[in-house]
Amino acid sequence: MMIRPRRNRRSAAVRGLVRETHLTPGHLIQPLFLLPDPQGESEVSSLPGTFRRGIDRLLPEIEACMELGLRSFVMFPAVPDENKDKEATYSYADDNFYLLAAKAIKQRFPEACLISDVAMDPYSIDGHDGLVGQGRILNDESLPILAKMSVAQAAAGFDILGPSDMMDGRVGFMRQALDSEGFYETGIMSYTAKYASAYYGPFRAALDSAPREDEDIPKDKKTYQMDPANAREALREAFLDTEEGADFLMVKPALHYLDIIAMLKAETELPIAAYHVSGECAMLLAACQNGWLDYEQAMPEVLLSIHRAGADAILTYFAKDYALRYRNGRL
Ligand code: PBG
Repeated sequence: MMIRPRRNRRSAAVRGLVRETHLTPGHLIQPLFLLPDPQGESEVSSLPGTFRRGIDRLLPEIEACMELGLRSFVMFPAVPDENKDKEATYSYADDNFYLLAAKAIKQRFPEACLISDVAMDPYSIDGHDGLVGQGRILNDESLPILAKMSVAQAAAGFDILGPSDMMDGRVGFMRQALDSEGFYETGIMSYTAKYASAYYGPFRAALDSAPREDEDIPKDKKTYQMDPANAREALREAFLDTEEGADFLMVKPALHYLDIIAMLKAETELPIAAYHVSGECAMLLAACQNGWLDYEQAMPEVLLSIHRAGADAILTYFAKDYALRYRNGRL
């Protein structure tokens, strides 16, 4: 045999020379669940190791991440029922604890990159990402609400806004609203190809944000989130988001949609983000808790696969764990 691929795998040093993909904490985004009570703290039962925290408990956690070189965060609020209504008005209220927390975080850590969630579901009594009317999710009527939410978030100091609602035209609508208020430096990380997935379960449980059970309310999100069977449709969404002024294109979930990540990376010019969602993390944690998989090996392998497929940035509940092992030279 003249050609033996194994020669390039002979030692750790040789393998290091030919390694094609390098994942650093700088590529990772840590999701944070925010509670209204500043002192509050509780673990998400279906996502062991992930906590909901009030702002007083969150600031030290962010500091610990920053020290590990993990500087990007995406934050989601757990909104009490009394603050929810049909129009999600609390999402842009002056006393909204999510906006106040963003201000506090950016004041304390100006160099952190803080990403928001733009969607009605945490604030909507109906639990949908858009306005519900006549038993449907109304697209154009939702856009002004998303725009108000966006301007309030930009004013609170978020660096990048993350529209996760899948309404048509929302990126352009938000971009215009932001620019007309002078927030032209605030970026948009669009949830471009967000699928109607079963893997959001632990997230909805953590925030109590599932669609409300009522016969007049659609019980799933299939009229706005994408059909898991479709790939070409993701390209259509990507071209629209690009034209509307998005700064990042996101694929969500990540692990079950690596083909979509690779396709968008090849066919578009914007940076690609991928959301390794709650259910994808939960299934790995469950297998590890049962002793069926080794967390130390499986966790980095999963994140590497998402990066290798083409995601520049990865949102994952394992971000801090990865950064910790990276710092300790174990990766
Ligand atoms: C809300 C939103 C969801 C997630 C992020 N933003 C849930 C949903 O669309 O129902 C899911 C994230 C995860 O599962 O980790 N628009």
